[in-house]
Amino acid sequence: MRPTSTRLRLAGCGTLKTVRGLPDYVIRNRASWDGWASEYEEPGRPNWAQDEPSWGIWSVPESEVRLLPDGLDGLDVIELGCGTGYVSAWLARRGARPVGIDNSQAQLKTARAFQREFGLEFPLLHGNAEDVPLPTPALTSRSPSTARASGATRTAGFQRPRGCYAPKGS
Ligand SMILES: C[S@@+](CC[C@H](N)C(=O)[O-])C[C@H]1O[C@@H](n2cnc3c(N)ncnc32)[C@H](O)[C@@H]1O
Repeated sequence: MRPTSTRLRLAGCGTLKTVRGLPDYVIRNRASWDGWASEYEEPGRPNWAQDEPSWGIWSVPESEVRLLPDGLDGLDVIELGCGTGYVSAWLARRGARPVGIDNSQAQLKTARAFQREFGLEFPLLHGNAEDVPLPTPALTSRSPSTARASGATRTAGFQRPRGCYAPKGS
């Protein structure tokens, strides 16, 4: 681990906390996703635009998959590795209160642009999803790559006792 530091930012609310000791692999992952981010802009738009969530490479609708719990209204959600943020957008439209966290500023820049385009605001944090210094969320959602990076035990560490963990797979 290299002695580096990064800042966790809450969009529009300034810096929340300085996270020290970002692991090398997280730094390398950040550089990779900053480089790939532009490729995720156009695919992100139809995802933001669609009302019903759909999952995986076959875009199976939520009404068939039933991945999300009932009663999202008012539920705190943290999306680990939110990328362009469309899953959080789906959840926000269903009354949840999502916070998206991503390691790539470039991905978050796209997410913020979509927030403006679609008129939907929720906090976006820049930081390592393995080390989230936030109040415990009731529901977590994360992408497979982030899941591999962070590990289930770390996620369990900041879930509420009655919280729900919803891994987002493809
Ligand atoms: C394949 S994209 C998925 C984005 C979005 N969840 C989706 O389903 O479209 C993976 C995202 O996870 C982010 N990511 C990977 N490792 C991370 C980590 N340790 N902390 C935060 N974000 C991470 C990347 O920057 C990237 O935006």
